[in-house]
Amino acid sequence: MATRRTFLKASALAGGALGAAHSALARAAEAVQSKPKPLRILILGGTGFIGPHQVRYAVARGHQVTLFNRGRTNPGLFKGLSNIDERIGDRAPRPGNYDSLKSGEWDVVIDNPTTRPRWVREAAAALKGRVKHYVFISTISVYASHDTPGADETAAVATTTTPDVEEGPQFLPLYGPLKALAEQEAHKAFPDATTIIRPGLIVGVGDTTDRFTYWPVRIARGGEVLAPPAADPVQIIDARDLSEWVIRCCEARHLGVFNASGEGTRFTVGQMLEQTRAALGSSATFTHATTEFLLAQKVNPWSDLPVWLPAEGATAGAQLRSVAKARAAGLTYRPFADTVKETMAFYQQQSEERKAQLRAGLSAEREAAVLAAWKKRAG
Ligand SMILES: NC(=O)c1ccc[n+]([C@@H]2O[C@H](COP(=O)([O-])OP(=O)(O)OC[C@H]3O[C@@H](n4cnc5c(N)ncnc54)[C@H](OP(=O)(O)O)[C@@H]3O)[C@@H](O)[C@H]2O)c1
Repeated sequence: MATRRTFLKASALAGGALGAAHSALARAAEAVQSKPKPLRILILGGTGFIGPHQVRYAVARGHQVTLFNRGRTNPGLFKGLSNIDERIGDRAPRPGNYDSLKSGEWDVVIDNPTTRPRWVREAAAALKGRVKHYVFISTISVYASHDTPGADETAAVATTTTPDVEEGPQFLPLYGPLKALAEQEAHKAFPDATTIIRPGLIVGVGDTTDRFTYWPVRIARGGEVLAPPAADPVQIIDARDLSEWVIRCCEARHLGVFNASGEGTRFTVGQMLEQTRAALGSSATFTHATTEFLLAQKVNPWSDLPVWLPAEGATAGAQLRSVAKARAAGLTYRPFADTVKETMAFYQQQSEERKAQLRAGLSAEREAAVLAAWKKRAG
């Protein structure tokens, strides 16, 4: 643990050789900075995809964590870990049940799973006067338009005239606008004490959608891989990079709105695939078809060839959002090869049945048929 004593000890070392003193002081200063003041953090959710990464990082940094959820997702995940207090409640009924949060005070609450604006309203009412800072996990889907490369957090958000839709077929298409309204509820309830984090596609350990996972799994299988245009941008974020930064945002009390994704300007489909192949030591080859051909073949961006969105028209800026503000506030990225290897390791841990049923991407048969059509056209 970094203390004044370790810092003074490092200072004493400064009496020795100048070079050694320099590095000892630098290390001590770094340690002092990296051991934050312990916080009481309430995590709404916490046992799904990104939540567990937040919990582990927060506990490792000495924070006290309270979890609030229904106890259905990954029950017992943190059993036996000290510094974690689990409370049970269901936010879905109207009104939600927050009785288990009647006692306690927190420096910060992180609201992970919420799309419905009502959930924020009710959580804020239940916690009134007992929370100093509200961190809302939103999405880049809040934006009204995705056609402008480099757009930052000031871009207009989508809206809806039906803010009370909570389920049924209308709910999913309203994901972005409802998230935007939920952000506004957080601002209303905690003026000057809100952090809104808008991630792009979150990938890696714990992801059950398989949207990125498709690529490492497909490339590990080898052979000829059907791929989107190599130069199209890719903007994804490892769940751990996001979650760890969220905790550091709590520590630093960074307020405001932040896009939180990869550096789209620096990463392309081609690089993603090549680097995945290298990380896995695969001998797969890539055949990059054009957007025009893939759309004509009814190969859907995002679902059939996941992660990819055409870098033109309505989605020209979807994977080129500015993340400059988050980077300035300390968002960092681990090496992409780590994301690839750990995503594969996570996939390998699943049951045989689950592994055989990827939830995104083309089947082997469909991919082969589209590749054959591409060759026929090229020929
Ligand atoms: N995945 C992506 O690529 C992506 C991209 C951009 C933004 N996002 C946003 O990132 C967030 C991801 O959240 P996550 O799923 O990873 O969060 P999480 O905190 O890891 O998991 C979801 C949690 O919510 C709890 N929960 C679900 N329904 C509940 C209810 N009715 N009452 C109380 N608790 C409930 C679940 O536990 P119980 O089931 O036990 O209640 C679970 O702990 C979402 O806000 C999403 O919109 C995701």
